[in-house]
Amino acid sequence: MIQYYLATKCFPNMAADENSPPAVIPSGHGNVYVQPVLKGIMTISLIPTLACISNTIDMINPRLNLHHVRTAFIAWHLAKIVHFSPAQCRKTVLAALLHDIGGLNEQSRLEPLNYIDDEQNNHALIGGELLSLIPLFKPLKEIVRYHHTRWENGLGRYIDGEHVPEESHLLYFADRVDVLLTQYRNENISSLREVLTETICNGANVLYKEEFIHAFEKLAARDYFWSAMQSSRYEDYIKEIPRIHNDNISLHNLRDIADLLAFIVDQFSRHPPWYSLTVGRIAGFLARAMGLDPTQSLKVEIGGLLHNIGCLDHSPTDERRAIADDEADKTWRALHPIEGIRDIAGWCVQQHRLYLGAASDMQISPEACIIAASHRLARMLEVTDDEGKFRMQLKATEPPDEISQAVHRLAAQHSKQLIQLWRSTIQERQGFVKRLEQLDVAFQRENVNPSE
Ligand SMILES: [Fe+2]
Ligand SMILES: [Fe+2]
Repeated sequence: MIQYYLATKCFPNMAADENSPPAVIPSGHGNVYVQPVLKGIMTISLIPTLACISNTIDMINPRLNLHHVRTAFIAWHLAKIVHFSPAQCRKTVLAALLHDIGGLNEQSRLEPLNYIDDEQNNHALIGGELLSLIPLFKPLKEIVRYHHTRWENGLGRYIDGEHVPEESHLLYFADRVDVLLTQYRNENISSLREVLTETICNGANVLYKEEFIHAFEKLAARDYFWSAMQSSRYEDYIKEIPRIHNDNISLHNLRDIADLLAFIVDQFSRHPPWYSLTVGRIAGFLARAMGLDPTQSLKVEIGGLLHNIGCLDHSPTDERRAIADDEADKTWRALHPIEGIRDIAGWCVQQHRLYLGAASDMQISPEACIIAASHRLARMLEVTDDEGKFRMQLKATEPPDEISQAVHRLAAQHSKQLIQLWRSTIQERQGFVKRLEQLDVAFQRENVNPSE
């Protein structure tokens, strides 16, 4: 029998001390993950949030491990040494934390790991396009788009008449430094500092702006830099990047970021490119229809968008463990370090167990029930979005618990709106996928016939 953490059908918000520990600490072996619902001001910091996200994105392959946070760490130090303005420093760090987000498959992420890259990969172009979807990240579009542009004795200032931001050149340099140093991550990197510095300096003017080379020489003269680069702990890089101005983001900003991340998640899963977006939007719709307040409904929507984030974590799994344990652990690992959204992380974990029928004798929050139900409804709509058939399917399905049953009844009542929401969401995602395909075709054509 499922016990509800908030055992009420009208779901009032409960105040809780932000420092309260989860009601049950995850052990990774089937324990319950429950987090009190927080009320009041939520503080979500942009840099730590992006750092957690980029860390998860890098978990798709061990060779990528920590690439984004290490690049951001290097870029931050270089930006300070060359006296970038605070606004430039901010943009450089944010872009560094997201720069390879446009690599939508493993190959596309691994190809740029050769120190001398051949610039045949479209991930920078796609990354810029993805970031332009979000108002918060729009200023990063050009930086990311051109982050593989060589300096070429100053010719790299422009590409096809378009100005390449200074931040792109610095990001390219920081990215290449990390790619080179990562090749020696299992050796005593400090003992190789001279030869590595020389390799990097050899790129002066052709690959990199000379000013950045001088900045790197200053950085490389510090013992501290080499010991930091030896670390395999994500926290060691992030703690060095200070909280920059305009660091706090709203829940709406977070929803936009989750929307983008949902797309990335779906690219690396067996689901269609609209899957996580539909689960998130259905969850938000149902939360509002059930009377949750706007803030809580937005959080449920974010939970739906991110519910499958654990699929980016390709770290080895113990085959003796249940799938539900494994998925729950990976989801928790990805989301719980993000300050201010531990409750959402808890719901996402619970929904996995609920969806996989592994939630008996667990405490489950209503929010998790809504997300799990939205997950089921999205799967039903994938089979048919005919209203009559959808309603029949709802009738024929016996949800596992009382709240899920209430959610299904509500879904039946609002089936017309749900189907409309489903169709418009798919259309939106399909339109975006088509846009990316067109960009890819143009990119390939340009690279086969660069003179055209
Ligand atoms: Fe890249
Ligand atoms: Fe990179």
